[in-house]
Amino acid sequence: MPEIADLRAAFVEGMSRASTFVAVATTNGEGGRAGVTVSSLTSVSADGEQPSLLVCINRQSPAATAILLNQAFCANLLAEDQQEIANLFAGRSTTERGERFDRVNWTAGDIGQPLLAGATASFECRLATALLWETHHIFVGRVSAVRLSDNGSALLYGQRAYRRAIHLDVK
Ligand SMILES: Cc1cc2nc3c(=O)[nH]c(=O)nc-3n(C[C@H](O)[C@H](O)[C@H](O)COP(=O)(O)O)c2cc1C
Repeated sequence: MPEIADLRAAFVEGMSRASTFVAVATTNGEGGRAGVTVSSLTSVSADGEQPSLLVCINRQSPAATAILLNQAFCANLLAEDQQEIANLFAGRSTTERGERFDRVNWTAGDIGQPLLAGATASFECRLATALLWETHHIFVGRVSAVRLSDNGSALLYGQRAYRRAIHLDVK
């Protein structure tokens, strides 16, 4: 068995090799307004009663607490020109947490969740279930509305840098 620290380092390195898309999970309601950058957005099913997706958020993030209280969130899939927004909601800028929404254009969706302008897709969800797994909440959302923008190119993150997808001409 490898040392736990070695195992963690290998896990983090291994996962860094997966390029994932970058989203901002936003929420608004009586539990407050909050948002956090996530790479854990995953489609679960298009064929249930309603489509569903999941995001994993650290239990210490105020956004996780707010999603639990609001019972709703929006997964905003960022476009490739939205790195600044990714950094803003990841706490990588000098902006105070409470001022993040003052730095972006957003509107309230059908169920009141913040839709970020310019996102390639925004999935507004009611919280269907939440599982606390050690450090992270796994939130499953039932999608109630989808907004698509004209920009179909999603921002990616892999090998510790922002990236964009390029088309491979496979012969
Ligand atoms: C590209 C990228 C992807 C991230 N993905 C996640 C994620 O899936 N879940 C998570 O809890 N944090 C993730 N983080 C870290 C959070 O964005 C960051 O720790 C958080 O914003 C801390 O600020 P907060 O305490 O205000 O939420 C990611 C950060 C970046 C830059």
